[in-house]
Amino acid sequence: MHKGFKISAILLVAALFGTLLAACGKNGGGKVDVGVVLPTKDEQRWVQDEQRFREALDDTKYNVEILFSQGSSAKEKENVETLINKGIKVLIICPPDGDAAAAAVEAAKKEGITVIAYDRLITNTDAVDYYVTFDSVAVGAAQAQYLVDHMKGGGQPLYLYAGAASDNNAFLFFEGAWKVLQPKIADGSLKIANSSEAEALKDKAELTREEMSRIIGQITTNWDPNEAKNKAQTHLTAASDDLKGDVLILGPNDHTARAIADVFAADSAVTSYVVTGQDADKASVEYILDGKQSMTVFKDVRTLVKDAMNLAVDILEGKTPTTTGSYHNGKIDVKAKQTDVIVVDQSNVKKELFDSGYYDESEFN
Ligand code: BGC
Repeated sequence: MHKGFKISAILLVAALFGTLLAACGKNGGGKVDVGVVLPTKDEQRWVQDEQRFREALDDTKYNVEILFSQGSSAKEKENVETLINKGIKVLIICPPDGDAAAAAVEAAKKEGITVIAYDRLITNTDAVDYYVTFDSVAVGAAQAQYLVDHMKGGGQPLYLYAGAASDNNAFLFFEGAWKVLQPKIADGSLKIANSSEAEALKDKAELTREEMSRIIGQITTNWDPNEAKNKAQTHLTAASDDLKGDVLILGPNDHTARAIADVFAADSAVTSYVVTGQDADKASVEYILDGKQSMTVFKDVRTLVKDAMNLAVDILEGKTPTTTGSYHNGKIDVKAKQTDVIVVDQSNVKKELFDSGYYDESEFN
């Protein structure tokens, strides 16, 4: 007994000492090499990114600090300033608002820091050096293709939802989805149930950013499940019975898709629904297993983290990072490294998410 206690006390002291050392930085004096700033802790998506970063840090000799902006661009700016003061050389940043983040990255740039936009592009500034991202247009196209593959046609009701207009990805997702859905809307197989702006543009194969803005303005969830739920309720209250029955729903991500699915499931005039998502949130994996959400687009965060960290290390070691393309951010072309995505539904959830070791199957029912 006593011996065990002694050993665990020693372990505890060692662990505390370890934490202290980590907090001070591997090179002492609180210096940090790479700063990571993530948008919010309120969504599983970003909590998972943090966790995957922490796992990746075991393999690096560099000091990395991760901060969260809690949806606030002011907090984000503060985080970046904190990291600047700690001497970072590279900033990896995913903004709550792509335009508003310009001030924060411009401050970093002034100090000679290399800026990597992570998953979400920072827009309308020249202070972004690199962008690591998933193929977000492909995400939207995959969601739409899933709906088309499961459609019954004959003017079947289609409910559209989008992400936050402050997130450039919301446009990329919608652009990808529209490309696939538009021909089916134009030929009458699908009928838009909840957006007069989209209905008015149904014959246009390609939309301008301004046209997409008008549609997203009507169908945005702001990435907020409460807003998604309220909108879905409003839409179903307004919908006549011919816009119910078997319906298709473009759910922009898992967090909002679950909220929307719950509303549609509760409406007795909705006979069946197909709803999309993305992120492979654990709660949505559960929904898919239970038949409450139809699909998700799996974006392997481990790959994104690896790409971001490899880029950062190349920069720290004075090498030129390899990129695979570029994205225009409204001001400049930002060199980008892009990663593919995988469609997951009941038929392959086991293979893609459990057998691959992404999640532990025993955590699910
Ligand atoms: C990300 C999605 C995420 C959404 C809401 C997007 O920029 O690409 O993975 O679900 O933001 O946080």
